[in-house]
Amino acid sequence: MSLLRLIPFIALLAAAGAAPALPVPHLAPQGSTRQLIVDGKPFLVLGGELTNSAASNLNYLQAQWPTLNAAGLNTVIAPVEWDQIEPEPGHFDFSVIDGVIAQARQNNKRLVLLWFGAWKNSMSTYVPSWVKHDYATYAKAQDDKGVAQDILSPFDPDTLKADSAAFSTLMTHLGQTDGQRTVIMVQVENEIGMLPVVRDYGPQAQAAWNGPVPADLIAYLSAHRDQLHPYVRDLWAAQGFRTSGTWSEVFGASVPAQEVFQAWYFATFANALTKAGKAAYPLPMYVNVALNRPNKTPGEYPSAGPLPHLFDVWKAGGPDIDMISIDMYFPNFKDWADKFKRPDNPFFSPEDNQAGRTDGGANAFYAVGQLDSISFSPFAIDQLTPATLPNVAGPYGVLRQLTPQILAAQGTGKMRGFRSDVSYDGVASSHATVFDLGDYRFTATYDDKNAADAQAALAGAGGLLIQTGDNSFLFAGQGVTLTFADATDDAMRIGIESDIEGQYVNGTWKPGRWLNGDDTIEGRQVRLPGNGFSIQQVTLYKYR
Ligand code: DGJ
Repeated sequence: MSLLRLIPFIALLAAAGAAPALPVPHLAPQGSTRQLIVDGKPFLVLGGELTNSAASNLNYLQAQWPTLNAAGLNTVIAPVEWDQIEPEPGHFDFSVIDGVIAQARQNNKRLVLLWFGAWKNSMSTYVPSWVKHDYATYAKAQDDKGVAQDILSPFDPDTLKADSAAFSTLMTHLGQTDGQRTVIMVQVENEIGMLPVVRDYGPQAQAAWNGPVPADLIAYLSAHRDQLHPYVRDLWAAQGFRTSGTWSEVFGASVPAQEVFQAWYFATFANALTKAGKAAYPLPMYVNVALNRPNKTPGEYPSAGPLPHLFDVWKAGGPDIDMISIDMYFPNFKDWADKFKRPDNPFFSPEDNQAGRTDGGANAFYAVGQLDSISFSPFAIDQLTPATLPNVAGPYGVLRQLTPQILAAQGTGKMRGFRSDVSYDGVASSHATVFDLGDYRFTATYDDKNAADAQAALAGAGGLLIQTGDNSFLFAGQGVTLTFADATDDAMRIGIESDIEGQYVNGTWKPGRWLNGDDTIEGRQVRLPGNGFSIQQVTLYKYR
């Protein structure tokens, strides 16, 4: 029999012995949190987001992998552009995204894809030229003087239809071609928000503004009335908690009331898109947000995005969106990140400031240890230089070693994360963090007076503590000193049974130095050096 005639049989045999399809990545509860499940197991994203244009050309991207590999990533976050995949209405070209996926596989990486559809950083620059030109069909948002902006109106059903059709075609394609589950999650749009005024004033927006507040929003606000953010609750309270009426009757006509209005229509648009995408291929999906600078008013910052003061509106309008995620470009990481960890919002962050900053590792340990984060992921990961690369590779190397222990501890109350306080202006303080774990009370301090740049050392100090037994802990991070007390009995004294530095090599603990004497101030403290991320196994004992 010729080889040609054998081919169908070979194919049949291959199909009969084919491995069962891998499960679709999804979120699943563990204790008080939700984890990302990949290939049936919890997964911690040690990621990095590419600069906006890096994945638009395969030759360009190919040259970036040595950097991405050296950084120790397991996941790359990469845009997919609407204009590139649907150059003509209904005609799709997936060659670039297919090539991105192939390159990721060759480099043993997962992908989170960013759908740069109707909006990218408020604007609509990634929409195909046939959408850009046809503003009669795909209406632009207008400012309060009636001037059109390069922003598609979320009030236009034609825009939602076209964006959803493209997005669900992309998701269908991924569902059909990505049996290896290289793509593990998808971001819907990018940093949605209205500029340079609080809301869209075009004709469709005006009709909605003068129409009734949808019952879904009223029902959500009524059900959560005692937990609403003051921004929304105060507007509603001032109108007597009305349960029907136009937007100005229910919330008033102030600028914040108009932001609530615009947020609802952004949220319901993003939700419809998410629903359409998941119907095609149900990967986890999230939205991200540009944070508002203090003392700026809506429109001075991208108004009506999924910001903490508008979570109620976005949660009400976006029940199919799995997470609202933070893009964090301010130095006071803890202050903002804490707001995004809620029972209804697992912590996920695609953009943790510029890659290679010296405070990035401490933020990663805080996010993963304290907020049960699904990810850490600085932006512009392809722009790392030999000088800045260790600031990602160092902390990721330790987080990778500890991934099994971290994933087992998430949501169980057996892990804490901590880092130095840093103000919005970027000033780090040595203010201590006090926390209980098991029946111990720990005090974390961050002073490093010997460092050449004490401020940078302080801002880069942070770590996590995992309880592995009644008296034993894994302590990891950089530049942190821990002292101990009994959590409930002041008379009980605490000593160090042992403090051993080491590494996990292929999952097995390899002990290094036994730290004692000067290195624990004769049994009074344990300390992680300030010049790199490391791990210690600490066992305490109690006496009186
Ligand atoms: C936030 C956006 O989401 C990214 O796409 C990128 O534009 C960065 N800002 C640039 O800092």
